[in-house]
Amino acid sequence: MAKVVFKKVVKSYGEVTVVPELDLEIEDGRFTVLVGPSGCGKSTTLRMIAGLEEVTSGDLLIGERKVNNVLPRDRDIAMVFQSYALYPHMTVRENMAFGLKLRKIPQKEIAARVDEVATMLSLNEYLDRKPKALSGGQRQRVAMGRAIVRRPSVFLFDEPLSNLDAKLRGEMRREIAKLHQTIKTTIVYVTHDQVEAMTLADNIVVMEKGIIRQKGQPLELYHKPANRFVAGFIGSPTMNFVDCKVENGKLSSESFSIKIPDNFNTENHQKVTLGIRPEDVMHVEKKEDGVIEGTAEIVEPLGAEILVTFNTDSASIMAGFEPTFKIAVGDKVMLKFPPDKIHIFAADSMGDSLRRA
Ligand SMILES: Nc1ncnc2c1ncn2[C@@H]1O[C@H](COP(=O)(O)OP(=O)(O)OP(=O)(O)O)[C@@H](O)[C@H]1O
Ligand SMILES: [Mg+2]
Repeated sequence: MAKVVFKKVVKSYGEVTVVPELDLEIEDGRFTVLVGPSGCGKSTTLRMIAGLEEVTSGDLLIGERKVNNVLPRDRDIAMVFQSYALYPHMTVRENMAFGLKLRKIPQKEIAARVDEVATMLSLNEYLDRKPKALSGGQRQRVAMGRAIVRRPSVFLFDEPLSNLDAKLRGEMRREIAKLHQTIKTTIVYVTHDQVEAMTLADNIVVMEKGIIRQKGQPLELYHKPANRFVAGFIGSPTMNFVDCKVENGKLSSESFSIKIPDNFNTENHQKVTLGIRPEDVMHVEKKEDGVIEGTAEIVEPLGAEILVTFNTDSASIMAGFEPTFKIAVGDKVMLKFPPDKIHIFAADSMGDSLRRA
């Protein structure tokens, strides 16, 4: 096991800087998930750890060792990609054993490790098959098995489940969680999937344009996003945002005003952004302070809940209500944003949270 440390790491391709200056410590034995929009530098960051991309400047450490100039095969890492990249002419057993053979590990030890990992991943009955005779999920399991038999000190996963259908994804996700509980090796995992990030991670790192916008435990990011970007990125469906003015201790917009809760400091701000998650929006019976009227524009019954998109004088607001709530397109509803559920962000480009420390 090992931690991974980026010290002022810059990555440029010629004139283009993809990662401006990365300072990040990935803790030993922890499951760290990197998320962010397409092109923000997640794969590049992972590939620098793997040694598949050179670091332009700064230092990269695995454990206590600086690895800037260490070859990929000498870094004691194993990487699993979205495309499984199995050798088609080899059986499952040979695919899993291949890396160990290259490292001149004794035959008996190889056989024992492959058997152990095949059991862990329920691959025993497929060991003599070739990849083309396997399902997508089975192939992905072989790709993981091939990494696990190596017993690396760090696992790197780049969207390993994105080629699988929704049901298989869920199953594999739970297997990966179980796996980490068993082997407790440092994992750095890139994903687009909210559920994967929230459920697998000890820590989530949210990136935007090569910059870390927040690092923390999943529920910390969910409940206390450090800025508007993270607020909008974590959570599905995404948080609602309403542009507001700050006036006399209240946030106000077109047809609505709400008292600023004590845990936010809006001093020195005339304009702010109010944030509220769809699941926190309530429907109430009568117009009162902090209530806004909305007209239902889209109604999406999902079974476990009903999602409604409302038109209001201030912004479009999505709300998640209990499935028994009776509503049709065109209905008018009083919407309330409970003060203990709102978020307030600066209206500037950084959009920092104005929550008091
Ligand atoms: N060899 C290269 N030369 C120039 N630019 C590159 C090269 N490889 C990647 N980039 C650029 O670096 C940026 C980050 O790419 P990267 O693959 O790390 O993104 P990502 O966060 O993994 O995105 P995705 O979610 O789409 O996989 C992108 O803008 C990409 O165009
Ligand atoms: Mg990528």
